[in-house]
Amino acid sequence: MKENIRWDAQLKVGSEVIDNQHKVLFELIKDLNNAMHAGASVRIVDVLLGVLRDYAFQHFQTEEDYFANHADFTRHCLEHYALIKKLNVFILDFRNNRIQGVQKSSAFLDDWLFEHINRFDIPFFFHETVKVRLLHEHEPIDEFDADREKRRLHKRLPHNEVVDDDILAYVYNATKLKSGKAKIINMSPGGLMLSSASNHAIDDLLIVSCSIGKNFKMEEKVKVKAAHDQMYGVQFVAPAPETIEFFTKLYGAVHLNRSKID
Ligand SMILES: [Fe+2]
Repeated sequence: MKENIRWDAQLKVGSEVIDNQHKVLFELIKDLNNAMHAGASVRIVDVLLGVLRDYAFQHFQTEEDYFANHADFTRHCLEHYALIKKLNVFILDFRNNRIQGVQKSSAFLDDWLFEHINRFDIPFFFHETVKVRLLHEHEPIDEFDADREKRRLHKRLPHNEVVDDDILAYVYNATKLKSGKAKIINMSPGGLMLSSASNHAIDDLLIVSCSIGKNFKMEEKVKVKAAHDQMYGVQFVAPAPETIEFFTKLYGAVHLNRSKID
């Protein structure tokens, strides 16, 4: 078993930015392994897993900026999506005590990152289109550019597809007895952020129906908890188990909150 794998020079991809982020990911995994070996509570390990997932999500976005001109750009993005999804399933299994033994958890986390860097990142970073980008690495990569903004519109959803359509929902306001449409701007296991031309008030009860990805259809009763400038934060009232499961697995694999609203 590869226990407490650390970053070493063999994992260099040639980008200082990415190498540093990979080092941080290995550190986070090391902290997780140490916490599990020390018998830390489920709550602490769960928080550390959440930190790992959030950092990985940001890191994958950074990497994808380097691969924009690579012929296999989409394949690498899908692989990143699959990694986030695997981690989500691991987190769910961990929370529900379905993983037997600390060794198994450690092995999963080590392989999760190590395999990806070896099989995907290193070959991709040695590709001509990416090397050109590396020559300009001193330029701040967070600078605004239209292409980057466009790529942020991509929404990663299950079923191995990258979807960049808006997610539209039908909304029935059961308090005001009015129907309308809304765009889903963000989502989580607790609720949704909607953008809608219809007017809803705090505490209004809405029924939101929509399809997300190819296979998930949802119809949920929600309560308006925040309303500002035609943006509405709504909370699920009594979500179906399928809804909770879907959004829990999706969490971290979808990044809608930078979507443009038109
Ligand atoms: Fe990658």
